Amino acid sequence: MKTQYDSRPIGIFDSGVGGLTVLKELLAAFPNENFIYLGDTARVPYGAKSTRTIERYTIQVADFLIRRNVKGLVAACNTASALGLGALRAHCDTPVLGVIQPGCQQAMEHIKDKNSHIGIIGTRSTIASGAYPNTLALFEPQLKVSSLACPLFVPLVEEGWLEHTATRIIVEENLAPFIKNPVDILILGCTHYPVLKPVIAQILGKKTILIDSAEAVSESLGKLFKKVILPTQNNNTQMVEFYVTDVADRFQEVAGRFLDSLNVASVEMVDL
Ligand code: DGL
Repeated sequence: MKTQYDSRPIGIFDSGVGGLTVLKELLAAFPNENFIYLGDTARVPYGAKSTRTIERYTIQVADFLIRRNVKGLVAACNTASALGLGALRAHCDTPVLGVIQPGCQQAMEHIKDKNSHIGIIGTRSTIASGAYPNTLALFEPQLKVSSLACPLFVPLVEEGWLEHTATRIIVEENLAPFIKNPVDILILGCTHYPVLKPVIAQILGKKTILIDSAEAVSESLGKLFKKVILPTQNNNTQMVEFYVTDVADRFQEVAGRFLDSLNVASVEMVDL
């Protein structure tokens, strides 16, 4: 039987620059695939907005990518994945992958038994949505799940305060409930948090397994290729286009912190 291919790019979107943590994983895992990244920098942060607003933004950013003829969509943003995916899937036929399901699936691969304690950290809206505990409950209803909103982590990462003393203090203060009542697994449920992995790991210690949803997504995209998206055939020059909805220079500057190895050479500003 002849293998079928699809040379169209994959669209990936986020509220801003944070989704580059996911793009970085996908570029390495799928060297044959081309990507189009859209950061909604004019309206970031999504993290404290209502479901209605997030749904509207998610559909608008996805429509931009669909007009560019993508073969699949990756919602790199945890907040958009938690609050906007239902509306997006009802709106379009393009296959959509969010970060919540893959993150939960990876967490489940690490649990020892159903008494395991899983922690989730994310933006206020992601945590308030209950998307992570609800998804985990589908795997195992008896798991102990504790959620914490950590809204200060995003600005710390955006400012590049990764090893700053203030960052350590803020991370320690925010994670105090998990220092007091340790979790076996902690899901980093926000695009920016993987960048703080070293300090989080130091504070919580070796016994807590950190789940990076950026890594989990590439595994799930691989499965999607087997089921609903066709791969690109032998592509020697992987292409990535970058779009933002505001101030491209700032995006390029912050991007360096997320994608040390990738050169974000040109970024185009667009209206949605
Ligand atoms: N991208 C968002 C997320 O993963 C974090 C930044 C924001 O609040 O927009 O939830």
